[in-house]
Amino acid sequence: MTQEEYYGAFFRELVQGKEYLEQLVQQYPVQETEDGIQPIIYIKSRIKTPESAMKKLERKGLETDGATAVSGICDAIGIRIICSFEEEVYKIARWLCKREDLCILEEKDYIAYPKPNGYRSFHLIARFTQDKMQGLTAEIQIRTIAIDFWAVLEHQLKYKQNIFHEDIIKQELKRCADEIASVDLSMQTIRELLRDGDWSK
Ligand code: GTP
Ligand code: MG
Repeated sequence: MTQEEYYGAFFRELVQGKEYLEQLVQQYPVQETEDGIQPIIYIKSRIKTPESAMKKLERKGLETDGATAVSGICDAIGIRIICSFEEEVYKIARWLCKREDLCILEEKDYIAYPKPNGYRSFHLIARFTQDKMQGLTAEIQIRTIAIDFWAVLEHQLKYKQNIFHEDIIKQELKRCADEIASVDLSMQTIRELLRDGDWSK
Protein backbone atom coordinates (compact mmCIF):
# COMPACT_ATOMS: atom_id res chain seq x y z
CA MET A 1 0.00 0.00 0.00
CA THR A 2 1.35 3.45 -0.86
CA GLN A 3 1.45 6.30 1.65
CA GLU A 4 -1.12 8.18 -0.43
CA GLU A 5 -3.50 5.24 -0.26
CA TYR A 6 -3.01 4.74 3.46
CA TYR A 7 -3.17 8.36 4.66
CA GLY A 8 -5.75 9.44 2.07
CA ALA A 9 -6.79 13.07 2.47
CA PHE A 10 -4.21 13.52 5.24
CA PHE A 11 -1.26 12.69 3.04
CA ARG A 12 -1.01 16.22 1.66
CA GLU A 13 -1.06 17.66 5.18
CA LEU A 14 1.73 15.33 6.25
CA VAL A 15 3.86 16.34 3.29
CA GLN A 16 3.16 19.99 4.05
CA GLY A 17 4.14 19.54 7.70
CA LYS A 18 7.31 17.68 6.80
CA GLU A 19 8.35 20.33 4.25
CA TYR A 20 7.55 23.10 6.70
CA LEU A 21 9.93 21.61 9.27
CA GLU A 22 12.66 20.99 6.70
CA GLN A 23 12.52 24.60 5.58
CA LEU A 24 12.39 25.81 9.15
CA VAL A 25 15.52 23.92 10.17
CA GLN A 26 17.34 25.13 7.05
CA GLN A 27 16.77 28.65 8.37
CA TYR A 28 18.70 27.94 11.55
CA PRO A 29 21.15 30.81 11.68
CA VAL A 30 24.80 29.82 11.36
CA GLN A 31 25.78 32.84 13.42
CA GLU A 32 24.30 31.02 16.41
CA THR A 33 27.75 29.43 16.59
CA GLU A 34 30.32 32.04 17.55
CA ASP A 35 33.21 30.21 15.87
CA GLY A 36 31.51 29.82 12.50
CA ILE A 37 31.49 26.02 12.61
CA GLN A 38 28.64 24.56 10.60
CA PRO A 39 26.07 23.53 13.24
CA ILE A 40 23.94 21.22 11.06
CA ILE A 41 25.63 18.61 8.89
CA TYR A 42 22.43 17.34 7.29
CA ILE A 43 18.72 16.86 7.76
CA LYS A 44 16.68 13.74 7.06
CA SER A 45 12.95 13.47 7.06
CA ARG A 46 10.29 10.88 6.45
CA ILE A 47 6.61 10.14 6.61
CA LYS A 48 5.98 6.94 8.52
CA THR A 49 5.40 3.95 6.26
CA PRO A 50 1.91 2.38 6.43
CA GLU A 51 3.46 -0.88 7.73
CA SER A 52 5.26 0.84 10.57
CA ALA A 53 2.24 3.02 11.43
CA MET A 54 -0.08 0.01 11.52
CA LYS A 55 2.30 -1.93 13.76
CA LYS A 56 2.53 0.97 16.19
CA LEU A 57 -1.27 1.47 16.24
CA GLU A 58 -1.75 -2.22 16.92
CA ARG A 59 0.70 -2.04 19.82
CA LYS A 60 -1.33 0.84 21.23
CA GLY A 61 -4.59 -1.02 20.77
CA LEU A 62 -5.94 1.52 18.27
CA GLU A 63 -7.64 1.18 14.89
CA THR A 64 -4.98 0.77 12.19
CA ASP A 65 -6.30 3.17 9.52
CA GLY A 66 -4.42 6.22 8.23
CA ALA A 67 -6.67 8.80 9.90
CA THR A 68 -6.07 7.20 13.31
CA ALA A 69 -2.34 7.16 12.56
CA VAL A 70 -2.36 10.93 12.02
CA SER A 71 -4.26 11.64 15.23
CA GLY A 72 -3.11 8.73 17.41
CA ILE A 73 0.65 8.66 16.94
CA CYS A 74 2.99 11.60 17.30
CA ASP A 75 5.62 10.63 14.76
CA ALA A 76 3.77 10.23 11.46
CA ILE A 77 6.10 13.07 10.47
CA GLY A 78 9.70 12.56 11.49
CA ILE A 79 12.67 14.83 11.03
CA ARG A 80 16.25 14.15 12.07
CA ILE A 81 18.79 16.90 12.49
CA ILE A 82 22.39 15.73 12.39
CA CYS A 83 24.77 18.13 14.12
CA SER A 84 28.51 18.59 14.25
CA PHE A 85 28.80 18.84 18.04
CA GLU A 86 26.72 17.99 21.07
CA GLU A 87 26.68 21.67 22.01
CA GLU A 88 24.75 22.39 18.79
CA VAL A 89 22.19 19.71 19.59
CA TYR A 90 21.13 21.63 22.68
CA LYS A 91 21.30 25.02 20.97
CA ILE A 92 19.05 23.85 18.15
CA ALA A 93 16.64 22.23 20.61
CA ARG A 94 16.42 25.50 22.57
CA TRP A 95 15.90 27.46 19.35
CA LEU A 96 13.04 25.15 18.31
CA CYS A 97 11.43 25.29 21.76
CA LYS A 98 11.27 29.11 21.60
CA ARG A 99 9.39 29.19 18.29
CA GLU A 100 5.80 30.30 18.19
CA ASP A 101 4.87 28.14 15.21
CA LEU A 102 5.60 25.01 17.24
CA CYS A 103 4.23 23.87 20.55
CA ILE A 104 6.53 21.37 22.24
CA LEU A 105 4.49 18.56 23.77
CA GLU A 106 7.33 16.37 24.94
CA GLU A 107 11.07 16.46 25.33
CA LYS A 108 13.36 13.46 25.83
CA ASP A 109 17.03 13.97 26.55
CA TYR A 110 18.71 10.64 25.85
CA ILE A 111 22.05 12.48 25.78
CA ALA A 112 21.98 13.42 29.43
CA TYR A 113 20.15 10.15 30.16
CA PRO A 114 21.23 7.56 27.58
CA LYS A 115 19.11 4.48 26.99
CA PRO A 116 20.50 1.26 28.56
CA ASN A 117 21.70 0.16 25.10
CA GLY A 118 23.79 3.35 24.77
CA TYR A 119 21.43 5.34 22.49
CA ARG A 120 22.02 9.09 22.76
CA SER A 121 19.76 11.57 21.06
CA PHE A 122 17.52 14.53 21.86
CA HIS A 123 13.86 14.08 20.91
CA LEU A 124 11.08 16.61 20.70
CA ILE A 125 7.43 16.02 19.95
CA ALA A 126 6.06 19.20 18.41
CA ARG A 127 2.59 20.29 17.42
CA PHE A 128 2.14 22.85 14.63
CA THR A 129 0.26 25.89 15.85
CA GLN A 130 -0.89 27.46 12.59
CA ASP A 131 -4.49 26.98 11.46
CA LYS A 132 -3.66 25.15 8.24
CA MET A 133 -1.76 22.43 10.10
CA GLN A 134 -3.90 22.31 13.23
CA GLY A 135 -3.50 19.18 15.29
CA LEU A 136 -0.61 17.81 13.24
CA THR A 137 2.41 16.62 15.23
CA ALA A 138 5.96 15.62 14.40
CA GLU A 139 8.92 13.97 16.06
CA ILE A 140 12.19 15.87 15.83
CA GLN A 141 15.35 13.92 16.60
CA ILE A 142 18.55 15.87 17.12
CA ARG A 143 21.90 14.11 17.50
CA THR A 144 25.57 14.35 16.59
CA ILE A 145 26.93 12.84 13.40
CA ALA A 146 29.05 10.44 15.47
CA ILE A 147 26.05 9.12 17.36
CA ASP A 148 23.99 9.00 14.17
CA PHE A 149 26.54 6.59 12.69
CA TRP A 150 25.97 4.28 15.66
CA ALA A 151 22.18 4.66 15.68
CA VAL A 152 21.81 3.88 11.98
CA LEU A 153 23.85 0.69 12.28
CA GLU A 154 22.27 -0.34 15.57
CA HIS A 155 18.83 0.08 14.04
CA GLN A 156 19.74 -2.34 11.27
CA LEU A 157 21.25 -4.88 13.66
CA LYS A 158 18.32 -4.71 16.09
CA TYR A 159 16.14 -6.81 13.84
CA LYS A 160 18.71 -9.55 13.35
CA GLN A 161 18.16 -11.86 16.28
CA ASN A 162 20.96 -14.31 16.88
CA ILE A 163 20.24 -16.33 20.00
CA PHE A 164 23.83 -17.47 20.47
CA HIS A 165 25.55 -14.11 20.28
CA GLU A 166 22.81 -11.77 21.38
CA ASP A 167 24.36 -10.85 24.73
CA ILE A 168 27.81 -10.19 23.39
CA ILE A 169 26.41 -8.14 20.50
CA LYS A 170 24.44 -5.98 22.93
CA GLN A 171 27.51 -5.53 25.10
CA GLU A 172 29.67 -4.58 22.13
CA LEU A 173 27.09 -2.12 20.80
CA LYS A 174 26.90 -0.49 24.21
CA ARG A 175 30.69 -0.28 24.35
CA CYS A 176 30.75 1.34 20.87
CA ALA A 177 28.09 3.86 21.93
CA ASP A 178 30.11 4.80 25.01
CA GLU A 179 33.30 5.12 22.98
CA ILE A 180 31.53 7.36 20.48
CA ALA A 181 30.22 9.52 23.32
CA SER A 182 33.78 9.86 24.56
CA VAL A 183 34.97 10.81 21.05
CA ASP A 184 32.22 13.46 20.87
CA LEU A 185 33.53 14.88 24.11
CA SER A 186 37.12 14.92 22.82
CA MET A 187 36.01 16.69 19.65
CA GLN A 188 34.23 19.27 21.79
CA THR A 189 37.44 19.79 23.79
CA ILE A 190 39.40 20.30 20.55
CA ARG A 191 36.84 22.85 19.47
CA GLU A 192 37.17 24.72 22.74
CA LEU A 193 40.97 24.71 22.47
CA LEU A 194 40.67 26.16 18.96
CA ARG A 195 38.33 28.83 20.24
CA ASP A 196 40.65 29.77 23.09
CA GLY A 197 43.65 29.79 20.78
CA ASP A 198 42.00 32.06 18.23
CA TRP A 199 43.32 35.51 19.17
CA SER A 200 41.36 37.18 16.40
CA LYS A 201 38.17 36.65 18.45
P1 GTP B 1 8.28 4.69 19.82
O1 GTP B 1 9.62 3.99 19.91
O2 GTP B 1 8.19 5.54 18.60
O3 GTP B 1 7.15 3.77 20.02
O4 GTP B 1 8.09 5.72 20.98
P2 GTP B 1 8.91 6.01 22.29
O5 GTP B 1 8.02 6.68 23.21
O6 GTP B 1 9.65 4.80 22.73
O7 GTP B 1 9.89 7.13 21.78
P3 GTP B 1 11.46 7.22 21.76
O8 GTP B 1 11.72 8.67 21.85
O9 GTP B 1 12.10 6.32 22.75
O10 GTP B 1 11.85 6.67 20.31
C1 GTP B 1 11.39 7.25 19.16
C2 GTP B 1 12.32 6.99 17.99
O11 GTP B 1 13.67 7.21 18.37
C3 GTP B 1 12.32 5.58 17.46
O12 GTP B 1 11.30 5.39 16.55
C4 GTP B 1 13.71 5.53 16.78
O13 GTP B 1 13.70 6.21 15.55
C5 GTP B 1 14.55 6.31 17.74
N1 GTP B 1 15.15 5.44 18.76
C6 GTP B 1 14.74 5.29 20.02
N2 GTP B 1 15.50 4.41 20.67
C7 GTP B 1 16.42 3.96 19.81
C8 GTP B 1 17.51 3.01 19.89
O14 GTP B 1 17.75 2.39 20.89
N3 GTP B 1 18.24 2.83 18.75
C9 GTP B 1 18.01 3.51 17.61
N4 GTP B 1 18.79 3.26 16.56
N5 GTP B 1 17.00 4.40 17.49
C10 GTP B 1 16.21 4.62 18.57
MG1 MG C 1 10.85 3.57 21.36
